[in-house]
Amino acid sequence: MTNRLFIAGNWKMHGSLQKNAALITDITSKITRELPVDVAIMPPFPYLAAAALLLKPSSIQLGAQNLYLGQEGAFTGEVSGAMLHDVGCRYVIVGHSERRTLFHESPELVGNKVKAALDAKLIPILCVGETQQERATSQTEVVIALQLQAVLDVIGGQRFAELIVAYEPVWAIGTGLSATPEQAETTHAFIRGWLIKNQVAEMQGIRILYGGSVKPENAKALFAMPTIDGGLIGGASLNADAFIAICQAACALQAAGK
Ligand code: 13P
Repeated sequence: MTNRLFIAGNWKMHGSLQKNAALITDITSKITRELPVDVAIMPPFPYLAAAALLLKPSSIQLGAQNLYLGQEGAFTGEVSGAMLHDVGCRYVIVGHSERRTLFHESPELVGNKVKAALDAKLIPILCVGETQQERATSQTEVVIALQLQAVLDVIGGQRFAELIVAYEPVWAIGTGLSATPEQAETTHAFIRGWLIKNQVAEMQGIRILYGGSVKPENAKALFAMPTIDGGLIGGASLNADAFIAICQAACALQAAGK
C-alpha cells in the first residue's frame, strides 16, 4: 500500500486575472476525468476567489501560499486561515524557504502558522529543506530535524499526522538543478524515519512531497522513489502542458501500483 500521490502547483507571485483564467481553463479542459492522484493549485491571495469559481467543475483543489495567525484582528496586510477556508482553500503552504529567508519567518512562527492552519481546518503543506552550504557541510539532516521539531513542539504528534510535508532543498528551487531521485529519496527516508521515531506517523500516512525544479522530464523518476509521494511544483506549474505532463507522470505511477 502506498500513499495517494499529490501534485501541487505553487504559483508564487505570478499571474493576472486574465492569465490565470487562461491557465486554469487550459488545465481543467485537459484534466476532465477523475484522477487517481490529488491535484491542487496555489495562486496568489487576490486571485483565490476567482480561481475557486473556475475550479468548481473540476476535481482540482485550491490552496494558498501563506497565512497569518488567528481568525481576524489588527494585522494590516495579513490574511487568516479562516479567510482562506472561506474562499474555498483546502491547503496552505507554510514555511516555504522563500518566506523563511526573505520574510525572516522563524521556526517558531512556522510552527504557530501550522497550528493556525489546522485550527482553520486547512491542510498545511509544511516545507523543509537545507541550503547549498548546509548540504556541503553535512548539515542537511540536522537542519530538517530542527525545522520539523519546531512544528512538533507547537502542535504535538497527533495533529502533526494531519500535515503534508514538502522537502524542498533550497539549492534546487528555481535553479533548474533538481535533486537526483536518489538524493531526494535519501532525505525523504530520513524525514519518514524522523516522523516514525517521534511517533508522528506510521510508515505510510503522512505524504512527503519533493519540490525543486520538478519538470516533465524528471517527474516520473522522482515520484517513482519509494518515499516520494508527489511534488510541489513552482515554475513548471505556470505552464499548462508541463503541469499536466507532471500530473500524468504521477497518474501513470499510481495506476501501475505505486
Ligand atoms: P521550482 O519548481 O520553480 O524550482 O520551485 C519549487 C518551489 O519552490 C515550489 O514550492
